[in-house]
Amino acid sequence: MIELAPSLLAADVMNLGREIERMLQTGVRILHYDVMDAHFVPNLSFGPSLCRKIHAQFPDVRLDVHLMLDNPEKYVQVFADAGAESITVHREIADDVGPVLEKIRALGVKCGLSVKPGTGADTLLPYLKQVDAILIMTVEPGFGGQKFMPQQMEKIRFLRRAGFEKTISVDGGVSLENAPLLVQAGATRRVMGTAFFRVPDAAAVAEAVRCMG
Ligand code: DX5
Ligand code: ZN
Repeated sequence: MIELAPSLLAADVMNLGREIERMLQTGVRILHYDVMDAHFVPNLSFGPSLCRKIHAQFPDVRLDVHLMLDNPEKYVQVFADAGAESITVHREIADDVGPVLEKIRALGVKCGLSVKPGTGADTLLPYLKQVDAILIMTVEPGFGGQKFMPQQMEKIRFLRRAGFEKTISVDGGVSLENAPLLVQAGATRRVMGTAFFRVPDAAAVAEAVRCMG
């Protein structure tokens, strides 16, 4: 089953409530929520207070929080309290990410681990049993609207060959055009910013993704 997680980063920030309603009307429940700190990535985005507000106003929305932060361990509690269903941290933030993954699990939240394009999928191997999901970046994290990197699909095949059967998400430049590549490689969740929130007919996009499996 292929899941779709629209990225709030591409939504109209002046009308976020309406944008989330628009997403719900397409039948999609998972909202990808990018958190950036201007250190780990060269940009700033949303913090915990907006996450809390969205959870309060739209309790059916499943918040997929992607922490592009140095020292994410300082913020996992606050995002768990703000209603995150899952919290993803980056492999690059520490030599050993085991402790922060454990901290997320202990909060009763699903934990995810992500790699930037330059980080090998082999660095994820020690953590495959500990995580609920892997998120493969197909752009350099920090900005929406960038070009998809198809060569990253090899990481998905590598993880499936290594026996990882849980969720694999793909984030960055994902569109209906490159979606078949994701399916063939074995990805089960696609994050879509621009290709969902900035098209005239998001419902058609949601329907097309559903038809892919
Ligand atoms: C990039 C973010 C992505 C971004 C995707 O650092 O992690 O979630 O919003 O947006 P698009 O789909 O426009 O590349
Ligand atoms: Zn993201």
